[in-house]
Amino acid sequence: MGLDRHDAQPSSCRICASPVVEIVDFGSQPVSNGFLRPEDAGSESYFRLAAGVCEGCAMVQLLEEVPRDTMFHEGYPYRSSESSVMVKHFEQFARRLMETELTGADDLVVDIGSNDGILLAPMAEAGVRHLGVDASQGAVAASREKGVRARVDFFDEDTAQDIARAEGPARVIFSANTFSHIAYLDSVMAGIDTLLADDGVFVFEDRYLGDIIANTAFDQIYDEHFYLFGVHSVSAMVRRYGFELVDAERIAVHGGAVRYWVARPGARRPTAGLAELVAEESERGLVDPSSLTGFGQQVEKVCADFVGLLDRLREEGRSVAGYGATSKSATIINYCGLGPSYIRYISDTTKEKQGRLTPGGHIPVAPRECFSDPYPEYAVLFAWNHADEILAKEKEFRENGGRWIVYVPEVRVI
Ligand code: SAH
Ligand code: TYD
Repeated sequence: MGLDRHDAQPSSCRICASPVVEIVDFGSQPVSNGFLRPEDAGSESYFRLAAGVCEGCAMVQLLEEVPRDTMFHEGYPYRSSESSVMVKHFEQFARRLMETELTGADDLVVDIGSNDGILLAPMAEAGVRHLGVDASQGAVAASREKGVRARVDFFDEDTAQDIARAEGPARVIFSANTFSHIAYLDSVMAGIDTLLADDGVFVFEDRYLGDIIANTAFDQIYDEHFYLFGVHSVSAMVRRYGFELVDAERIAVHGGAVRYWVARPGARRPTAGLAELVAEESERGLVDPSSLTGFGQQVEKVCADFVGLLDRLREEGRSVAGYGATSKSATIINYCGLGPSYIRYISDTTKEKQGRLTPGGHIPVAPRECFSDPYPEYAVLFAWNHADEILAKEKEFRENGGRWIVYVPEVRVI
């Protein structure tokens, strides 16, 4: 455990330039979605993964940024629609947007980080004017197969100007699990300003800092999650760029997330639910940097328990597989120094990941069929955020004596 450490450099906030206090340092880590061909093993690039909190605006952020095209490119393997629960989640939200916001015949919705069209496919089917923007050619190609209109691009000020010229203003700009991936918010928020209609709304959802801290969900910290948003920090961030946070809803996906509603100042009345969440964050100390500094010790405890369990299972000669080759798993696998001698393979339904090795740990990624042929004795649930969905469809694993290993909020064998 504990890969080579770098000396901590003093950092300043990417948004407001105030000092950033370090919370946790995972040392050297590979690019999380950099699944490798076996012949390329060892060629991955590393960066320092550490997170801190800004003393000025309370934004939790990484201390080192990985260049955007190192993470997101043609071969980026993540596909949103591998989870049927997430497909349903976005279908429902697409319907809500169509009923409440996109009511004009010509209203435009733009989805930043549209991936395989998980939000836009139902809108395309309903004939809503839409445009997806995603940096990954492979993901955009998958969305086009579902009838979604999308362009391969990084959303920033230039892209927004280009879209505004071609399409006119957007009534809704949406972004799920992408806005936190974008370190360069100056350019992106200028783009939102350019593209959003005066009475339009910018809605984004992302993993919630409050849940990450409460559950010691430290594997949510990896290269792509440059920011870990909270209601306070998002409110300060959007105000800085001339917008107002008017609502925030907690949503039960990806281990706990928040959906933020942002409008031009005075355009919409802030909700009571927003005020409640703001008060709750203050009560919990989520805006006080000193209350976050214990997180690192909790992480050490979970990792020590996890490695202790896997060491014991390896000594006993038990068969252990992984389930879900998530980006998150890169953090725990590499921080804990795991490899195929602990976890023989990781089962994953994503074709783009199968036959590859996980970055750093070099654990083979295998198709789901391998999981039951034969079942392992233990399976580490790396996709713990999809636990309900996976445990329901993998009942037979447990009926055959298999045991799940989870590590959020603590290490348990189920
Ligand atoms: N919205 C989907 C996908 C999230 S994965 C969901 O919630 O499941 C993040 C996606 O954002 C990836 O497909 C990546 O290629 C894309 N992305 C990252 N930075 C981007 C940017 N600046 N502009 C547009 N897309 C971006
Ligand atoms: P996810 O947790 O959504 O994201 P991240 O990469 O951001 O951590 O990734 C879930 C992974 O698990 C994805 O590679 C698909 C895979 N998966 C399965 O193999 N089977 C399943 O039933 C589900 C829901 C996901």
